[in-house]
Amino acid sequence: MSENAPVANFWEELPEHFSVLAPMEGVTDIVFRRVVARAGRPDVFFTEFTNVSSFASEKGRHDALERLETLPEEAPIVAQIWGKNPEHFGELASALSEMGFSGLDINMGCPDRHVNKAGGGAAMIKTPELAVECIRAAKEATNLPVSVKTRLGFTYLEEFHDWLKLLLEQNLAALTVHLRTRKEMSKVGAHFELIPEILELRNEIAPDTKLIINGDIEDLKQARELWKKYPEIDGIMIGRGVFKNPYCFTDHEPTREELTDLFLYHLDLYDARAKKLSENGSRYPFEPLKHFYKVYFNGFPGASELRAKLMEAKTTAELREIIKSL
Ligand SMILES: Cc1cc2nc3c(=O)[nH]c(=O)nc-3n(C[C@H](O)[C@H](O)[C@H](O)COP(=O)(O)O)c2cc1C
Repeated sequence: MSENAPVANFWEELPEHFSVLAPMEGVTDIVFRRVVARAGRPDVFFTEFTNVSSFASEKGRHDALERLETLPEEAPIVAQIWGKNPEHFGELASALSEMGFSGLDINMGCPDRHVNKAGGGAAMIKTPELAVECIRAAKEATNLPVSVKTRLGFTYLEEFHDWLKLLLEQNLAALTVHLRTRKEMSKVGAHFELIPEILELRNEIAPDTKLIINGDIEDLKQARELWKKYPEIDGIMIGRGVFKNPYCFTDHEPTREELTDLFLYHLDLYDARAKKLSENGSRYPFEPLKHFYKVYFNGFPGASELRAKLMEAKTTAELREIIKSL
């Protein structure tokens, strides 16, 4: 344990059943998290993942710190980190204690080739001793509750027994299981049929570790159905569902007008962020904004024509003009 004053374990203070916005690189940054908060927040936010070795390097630290910006009203919010160097895990874990986060999560599930080649994400499943070392290093350096997000295995489904058992033995505050292997990427459906076995493992090895289930759960309604079937699941994590409906953490069915207003709010936040980063000598690129048009303008007559128009715009001022002319 570090010498920092003990921090309350926020996972213990959540409702019996809680919702989590999945960490999504290039999506769940400080801007989009605020958009989701306006629509209806989950019980817990996660950041995009940050590489521990980038933070440890002089060159990468500035960028890492920008990724890790958060606001007090986002709490509870968990910083997700990845890498393979235990010392660097310790360095970033220690810094996170002072940065306003409620918890720290280690990514051991990302299937990206570059991430895996660097030994991080799902590659950790293949180096279990190193995975344990990284968890220990993080825990020793911070008083924040430490959790892990992972997949069922690297290649074979059967790996989940040994892998999840090992993780559960690490006295984690929470464990998120994305119900697929690394090999399966997102090409097959999530393995909901394994939930009873995973619950059994958790109950046997680490009854105090919160179990969060992830994969193909699109909204609160679907989450409630899962909880009805398996009340021992603590948390449900939703990722891509937020693209289909940014109000997915609520029962509200947004009108077209509400979605348009939410888009305009997104643009305001985008402008403020771009201004702040440029004052800091960084850039907040415009191109990634295009991925979001479908979130707001989808499934009504003329939606695809409207999106095609929006795609032509090069500034937020042009986007607002198009919206005004509707
Ligand atoms: C664009 C995108 C980026 C992602 N980035 C991350 C990430 O940074 N960390 C992580 O643990 N998972 C990441 N994921 C995986 C999601 O957190 C989640 O596990 C996956 O999408 C399955 O959940 P879903 O079916 O609810 O989308 C990402 C997924 C997507 C689609």
